[in-house]
Amino acid sequence: MGEWIIEPATVEDLQDIVHIEEACFSTPWTRKMLAVELSGNPFAHFFLAKGAPSSEGASVSIVGYLCFWVVFEEVRLMNLAVIESMRRKGIARALVMQALEMGLVKAARCAVLEVRASNHAAHALYRNLGFRDVTIRPTYYTNPIEDALLMELDPIATESGLLTQDVHREGGPITSRQ
Ligand SMILES: CC(C)(COP(=O)(O)OP(=O)(O)OC[C@H]1O[C@@H](n2cnc3c(N)ncnc32)[C@H](O)[C@@H]1OP(=O)(O)O)[C@@H](O)C(=O)NCCC(=O)NCCS
Repeated sequence: MGEWIIEPATVEDLQDIVHIEEACFSTPWTRKMLAVELSGNPFAHFFLAKGAPSSEGASVSIVGYLCFWVVFEEVRLMNLAVIESMRRKGIARALVMQALEMGLVKAARCAVLEVRASNHAAHALYRNLGFRDVTIRPTYYTNPIEDALLMELDPIATESGLLTQDVHREGGPITSRQ
């Protein structure tokens, strides 16, 4: 699969999202929690990354997702995962950039998130996108108990060319090529 697209999730995607969530996290969000974010939370947005069909008629499959809130001036990244076989292809980066773009459109000024202290992959991803460590929230996570790093991007800036390159913004689905 050489191509993938990003598009909004719907409640029909819930089952696939639950599968990925359970595969990626030691304390996965429940189906109910995910369902609320997909349809019951007015602040929430949910984007999917889907592997594009390799031939005509082939179906697409969900390879990653990002749930985020836009709460007034703030984008809150809530839940991000990419299936193992599709990692290190820039999918998470594109999902986060898409969220930041939507935040800017909705007049958000900054973005925040929490990440497990031991999650070096996610930490590197966010650092590379310009987020900085703000503080530690001790014993924030369970299974295993672990500190959270609070990270922030303020302002959501384009100074470093953050919101450019492999994301095409012509409306409709966003396509990124490998
Ligand atoms: C963290 C996660 C979402 C990253 O997804 P991904 O699609 O592989 O990330 P990307 O390909 O967009 O990576 C972008 C950059 O992040 C950094 N990065 C990502 N994974 C990394 C890793 N395993 N080790 C070091 N750096 C990493 C790199 O700088 C990378 O750029 P590069 O590939 O050009 O070096 C994915 O590993 C995942 O789903 N993990 C399990 C769930 C999770 O931890 N979610 C985040 C919770 S806060």
